[in-house]
Amino acid sequence: MHPSDLFVELDKTIHNRKGFDCGTQALNQFLQQFALRHSEAGISKTMVLPAGGDASTICAYYTLAHTEIKRQSLPKAMAKKLPRHPVPVMLIAQLAVHKDAHGQGLGKSALIKALKHCCDINDHLPSYAVVVDALNEGVQEFYKQYGFMPLDHDEERIRLFISMKTIQQLFV
Ligand SMILES: CC(C)(COP(=O)(O)OP(=O)(O)OC[C@H]1O[C@@H](n2cnc3c(N)ncnc32)[C@H](O)[C@@H]1OP(=O)(O)O)[C@@H](O)C(=O)NCCC(=O)NCCS
Repeated sequence: MHPSDLFVELDKTIHNRKGFDCGTQALNQFLQQFALRHSEAGISKTMVLPAGGDASTICAYYTLAHTEIKRQSLPKAMAKKLPRHPVPVMLIAQLAVHKDAHGQGLGKSALIKALKHCCDINDHLPSYAVVVDALNEGVQEFYKQYGFMPLDHDEERIRLFISMKTIQQLFV
């Protein structure tokens, strides 16, 4: 599987959502059943990386949405500088690589593209941080190596964050 260079917005007339398999059913199902519906409803945006020379095959995808976090869930040093309100953040709601392309650096490039996308949105309307929900402890390590820090967790997910100031430093 050879990816092209550019992530593009998911388009049902071009992209074969059913052919995508990252090995995690919930992430396959989101792409196949919900990504377009959520995009049409105006609550998230899904970007896909097509294969080079075969625009229908999806090598990787990410989905961005807005959300908010509790101020108290941030480290104290950060929280004390913020007003006593929920804190607006961007959410990497999904991020996955086709299982045939695992281990080739696509997860890293999808994450960098997603963070750059957040940074560009931030130029128009600021958010305090980007958060991501890791499905398990292994995936948590994937995000931590790029500077994400634990925020909070429940039985279903481990929430991590990286401040927008840190992200901006990556793209100066
Ligand atoms: C997690 C996932 C996105 C990683 O994608 P990938 O293309 O295989 O990862 P990369 O090749 O870009 O790896 C980049 C680095 O992360 C590390 N890494 C990859 N998967 C990891 C994992 N599950 N846990 C910890 N580290 C991981 C790699 O070893 C590599 O480190 P290195 O640069 O020091 O060699 C991919 O395995 C996937 O889609 N999994 C199923 C869906 C999923 O769990 N998505 C996360 C959403 S919560």
